[in-house]
Amino acid sequence: MERTLILVKPDGIQRGLAGEIIKRFEQKGFQLVGCKLMLMSEVQAKNHYHEHIGQPYFEKLFLFITSSPLLATVWEGDQVIALSRKMIGKTDAMDMIPGTIRGDFSHHTNLNLIHGSDSIQNANHEIQNLFAPQELISYSREITRWV
Ligand code: TYD
Ligand code: MG
Repeated sequence: MERTLILVKPDGIQRGLAGEIIKRFEQKGFQLVGCKLMLMSEVQAKNHYHEHIGQPYFEKLFLFITSSPLLATVWEGDQVIALSRKMIGKTDAMDMIPGTIRGDFSHHTNLNLIHGSDSIQNANHEIQNLFAPQELISYSREITRWV
């Protein structure tokens, strides 16, 4: 079973959209295994966005992600990484299609509300960056034995 990191970024918290975003993952059927409101430290932010260091948008992204609290969540499910990316929608504002989280609630690339891991390797790295092992709770749901 895969796990992915989903962040409700500072703009999502400030706009009161955390519940709406969590609801979408719950109603899709994914299983919540970790959840905390936190301030991302500078070290955690550089670790999380290490692939983007040096890009022209990095400084703004770094200041934004560390500026105020975000909600860090970890979800489990079959193909949860790729399916979450579909639910989230595209990065660029022009490509955010209605029906996706960004398409329904965001109009700007810099304020795109949500982060979702894009590969198993990045998911593992990103989860370890923000969560201690004891903060992730495995539990079984009767229904998942049919997956
Ligand atoms: P990226 O990992 O490419 O997008 P996603 O969040 O969809 O996985 O980029 C990380 C964040 O960096 C993105 O959510 C917003 C910011 N960003 C910009 O501000 N401008 C850009 O041109 C890109 C590519 C990203
Ligand atoms: Mg990304």
